[in-house]
Amino acid sequence: MELSPYAPRLTALATTRGECLDLLADLITVMGARMLACRQLAVRDIWQLPDASRPIPVVLLVDEIAELFLTADKAEKDQVTRTATALLRIAQLGRAFGIHLVLSGQRIGSDLGPGVTALRAQIGGRICHRVNDPETAVRTLGDLDPDALAAARSIPPELPGVAVVTGSDGRWYRARSGYVSTHMAEQVATAYAHLTPSWAQVATSGLGHRLPKAAGNPEIAA
Ligand SMILES: Nc1ncnc2c1ncn2[C@@H]1O[C@H](COP(=O)(O)OP(=O)(O)OP(=O)(O)O)[C@@H](O)[C@H]1O
Ligand SMILES: [Mg+2]
Repeated sequence: MELSPYAPRLTALATTRGECLDLLADLITVMGARMLACRQLAVRDIWQLPDASRPIPVVLLVDEIAELFLTADKAEKDQVTRTATALLRIAQLGRAFGIHLVLSGQRIGSDLGPGVTALRAQIGGRICHRVNDPETAVRTLGDLDPDALAAARSIPPELPGVAVVTGSDGRWYRARSGYVSTHMAEQVATAYAHLTPSWAQVATSGLGHRLPKAAGNPEIAA
């Protein structure tokens, strides 16, 4: 919900688990089509394709990931399992095909449900902001480097925007982001709305005539 103001700059926005599941299914279809195109051209990933055939890279942002794993009753359990499986597939295979995952939330770990540990293991980098709840820092960095955890815990409240960042090289850094207010971010999203690719462009870019079939997105179903 909190990303709704930026909708003009987003190709798709899902705010319920049902919508999210449809969107993940569509992304997996796109991923499959990209995989097939790479296989036909005997390349390992989309970055080895010639510029003209390279599909549009996708960044998938999941805010408040715990919401996806909350279950009130048995009926929701199946939906949660399918969501977790879809996210895991994208995390495992997506990067080579230009589908990148950014997950955010607190305490992202096994108590959210089965599948989350496997998902965590696929995530190449971590960003830990200052948090009031020390357990969140432990979940984010504790399995990586005790010094990184100590650095994250010592970020003072008067330094918002400072974070501890780890990358695929296994090293960690203290980083500080420039402050962008919600209002400024909304303005930027609107100013660059014309650069937002449509779903059809994302789904078919670089793939010539191979149009993937839509699972849930009406725009590509049409
Ligand atoms: N780079 C920055 N510099 C200064 N302040 C920042 C910066 N980034 C965020 N803030 C401030 O930090 C606060 C928390 O930001 P935000 O709501 O994005 O955090 P969050 O982790 O998503 O919180 P929640 O868990 O409630 O969703 C806000 O008041 C925001 O203005
Ligand atoms: Mg938030």
